[in-house]
Amino acid sequence: MSDAFTLEPPWDPRRFPPTARAPRAVQTARMLRDPQGYTRSLRGQFGPVFSLRTFPYRAALVCAADAAANRAVLTDHKRFTGGDAAALLAPALGSGSLICTPPPRHLLHRKLLLPPFHGARIACWTQRVRELVHAGLPELLSGDGVPVRPWAQRLTLDVILRVVFGLTDPARTAMFRNALNGFVATGNLAVLFLPGPLRRDLGPLSPGGRFHRLRAAVRDLTREEIAARRAAPDRAHRDDVLSLLLGARDEQGAGLDDVQLLDELTGLVLAGYETTATTIAWTLHLLAHHPAARDALVSDLDSGSDLVLASVLKESGRLRPAVYNAMRTAAHDTELGGHPVPRHAFVAALFPLTHLDPELWPEPDVFRPERHLGGDPAPYSLTPFGGGVRRCIGVPLAQLEIETVLREILATAIPEPAGPPEAARLVSVTLVPARGGRIRLRRRRTPVSGPSAGS
Ligand code: HEM
Repeated sequence: MSDAFTLEPPWDPRRFPPTARAPRAVQTARMLRDPQGYTRSLRGQFGPVFSLRTFPYRAALVCAADAAANRAVLTDHKRFTGGDAAALLAPALGSGSLICTPPPRHLLHRKLLLPPFHGARIACWTQRVRELVHAGLPELLSGDGVPVRPWAQRLTLDVILRVVFGLTDPARTAMFRNALNGFVATGNLAVLFLPGPLRRDLGPLSPGGRFHRLRAAVRDLTREEIAARRAAPDRAHRDDVLSLLLGARDEQGAGLDDVQLLDELTGLVLAGYETTATTIAWTLHLLAHHPAARDALVSDLDSGSDLVLASVLKESGRLRPAVYNAMRTAAHDTELGGHPVPRHAFVAALFPLTHLDPELWPEPDVFRPERHLGGDPAPYSLTPFGGGVRRCIGVPLAQLEIETVLREILATAIPEPAGPPEAARLVSVTLVPARGGRIRLRRRRTPVSGPSAGS
């Protein structure tokens, strides 16, 4: 794979959309402190297409922040291609993972991965998610304020390890959890944003050295799972992603070798658990702080309807999308929103900004699920899972997990605030609640016993 960072054109203000005068270090610091506030101020100053000059980009990240620019970046694959654009994440995910695979290999690769994530196959995980929620409820109900994100991370990690590896052994799950928690910790992933030379492994005490050691721990565990499954006599009868991928062949009859599998599986685990846990945390946090919306959801669920639940998930994905952006690179010199974009420049669809565009969403900062009850939103105005040929393949699994968690919790308890509403912080490409999404759960006097409760 070509290294997109070496191909990136040098900064030249005449060849890029407009940007602030502040130097890269200052723009980077502002992004880390207040990503929403800073990018909104740039959008206010320059319009829906602007440049963001932050590390590790040598020149700039071209940002798209309205529905028209969002659509162009996500769907005009001839001008804006994916894969190489994820170069920032490649050291973490593995350059052979689907997210980092450029066209034309991407589509072949995606066809191999889609079947295990099909909605009908995924439905079988509902019961496991219910069990996990019930096992974890006492912890959420205890105490005066519990951060939901770490709680939800344990749940979504357990689910993804079962879905991807078919893992059921608690000791093995705990080993993965420890290795992954160390690897995805804020301090570790911050290395990805350092200038090139500082990202290298310069010994065990250097940030790069630490990153490589923690990464090796995750990959060693994954390698062991691949070897064990290749040797397993029952693998043709198993329905986890690893077993299915070992038997999958593309149109030319080729399968995935161990190196590709290693990247693919690491990528799936990393893409699949933090994002879903973060969405669960934001949704419960938002409901705790919006009692009218929360009560409307609880009474709708109690009556056996799903209508309000669907609108709550849309509104939470609008206001607090877990993934900050989708990345592409410009295939040739082109334009976006009337501004020039040079070949090989990095281009990002910034979902949180399109989702807060007042022309698309009146009173955009207000959490108001009922705005989605009237029908579908304008095309490309709401894209928390990205779009086009690279739209997230984990949507059915993520939705099943989020919906099941909400149903099970709200049948037993009511979320209430445990402090002020939390600001959003950017960790790598994830927009997380600054204090983990703290809430207090008040037990309902008469928990609802329905088809979903307590089973
Ligand atoms: C609420 C949870 C999730 C959110 C918000 C989310 C969001 C996203 C976004 C924004 C993209 C980029 C799409 C684009 O470039 O246009 C993406 C891609 C992807 N996601 Fe998710 N995701 C979630 C859960 C999952 C889960 C559970 C999995 C499954 C393991 C998963 C696997 C992937 C993969 C493999 C891709 C790359 C698709 C491709 O390049 O073809 N995600 N996701």
